[in-house]
Amino acid sequence: MDRLIKKNLNKRLHFTTNIDLSVQKADVVFITVGTPIRSNGDIDIGYVESAAYKIANNLNGYKIIVLKSTVPVGTAKHIYRIIQSKSRVTEFDLVSNPEFLREGSAVHDCLYMDRLVIGASNKIASRRLEQLYQSFYFKEVIHTNFETAEMIKYASNTFLATKISFINGIARICDQVGADVEMVAKGMGLDDRIGKKFLKAGIGFGGSCLPKDTKALIRIAETNGYDFSLLKAVIKTNLEQYKYIIEKLLLATREIEVKTIGILGLTFKPNTNDLRNAPSIPIIKKLLKLGFVIKAYDPVSIKEVKRKFSHESNISFFCDIYKTIDKCDVCMILTEWDEIRRIDLKRMLQLLNYPIIVDGRNIFDINKMESFGFSYYPIGRGQPTLGM
Ligand code: UGA
Repeated sequence: MDRLIKKNLNKRLHFTTNIDLSVQKADVVFITVGTPIRSNGDIDIGYVESAAYKIANNLNGYKIIVLKSTVPVGTAKHIYRIIQSKSRVTEFDLVSNPEFLREGSAVHDCLYMDRLVIGASNKIASRRLEQLYQSFYFKEVIHTNFETAEMIKYASNTFLATKISFINGIARICDQVGADVEMVAKGMGLDDRIGKKFLKAGIGFGGSCLPKDTKALIRIAETNGYDFSLLKAVIKTNLEQYKYIIEKLLLATREIEVKTIGILGLTFKPNTNDLRNAPSIPIIKKLLKLGFVIKAYDPVSIKEVKRKFSHESNISFFCDIYKTIDKCDVCMILTEWDEIRRIDLKRMLQLLNYPIIVDGRNIFDINKMESFGFSYYPIGRGQPTLGM
């Protein structure tokens, strides 16, 4: 991102706080504002609405307005009506064009899309937007109406969440029956109809999108008279995963006296500093409640996470893995950062008081860990866990 911004700044890329001028000068206006979730699962579209009012006030000729924010089904139509009723200029088109990029690989996902989804009320606007994306790579383009485009976004994210909760459920059984979830996922994924992605068992999905969109779609279903019980179970399974890893830790340490736990990785996934809905947060809170002392490592999010735990005295933070685990009794892995994958296992063995690793992301080979002399506890790889 930095490189791209530097390359284009003040040439093809300009930043401004002047909304009026930027709308007036544009042929195409993208709405990309946030859509926070309320406690009842409703999505707050207030920022989208206020963007629509600002655009309406500044329409000075034909423009295409592109709604990129993730919004409940029906929002595009609502926004169209706002602009239509508030603007003096009547020549405009609105297009619903959801984004599918992931945090941490946003530039790549933006330039190389699996699909381009364009929901529009007329074909001309639809084709014009497709033209705008001509220099991007996309396998296929879907031209459809507003509602279908909006639903594709929710259905995609919640299906990914469903895959994760499904494999986490399978992992729970694998532990009990002596099966290996990694091999099960591989065996399933080789079937093209299933696909191998998003079948990585672990401590559950976090971030600002999957948890929010799952709750929002349950709410959208509810307001349309449908009880989406499948998605409710997806959320329940997801919440259970962080309790499960704590059970694993308690099982792994039942015969020893444990005080200090090293936590490796805090963000909801690698290559981002985002802690929103990161499973590490409830896990750490619970461990502190249980009376443990925590030494936590993350390569990028220490500044943010310190603020979250500023009132806690039994937790300290590190940007160096080896300083983190030094004199810890045992350690837990909560995010699969490359820095953790590449850890010097011999050194780790020397620094930990007990050679016990509870791995919430299944990043190591079981046999290798055993040959080093570790007691290694991954998820769903055939180790029965108490209390299931
Ligand atoms: C997600 C979607 O993947 C994007 O396609 C979408 O555009 C984006 O939301 C959005 O709506 O803006 P993101 O939130 O960046 O992207 O994160 P993901 O890569 O989807 O990961 C979400 C969570 O699932 C992470 O906590 C990750 O650790 C977990 N996960 C992912 C698993 O536990 N297992 C897996 O197999 C895959």
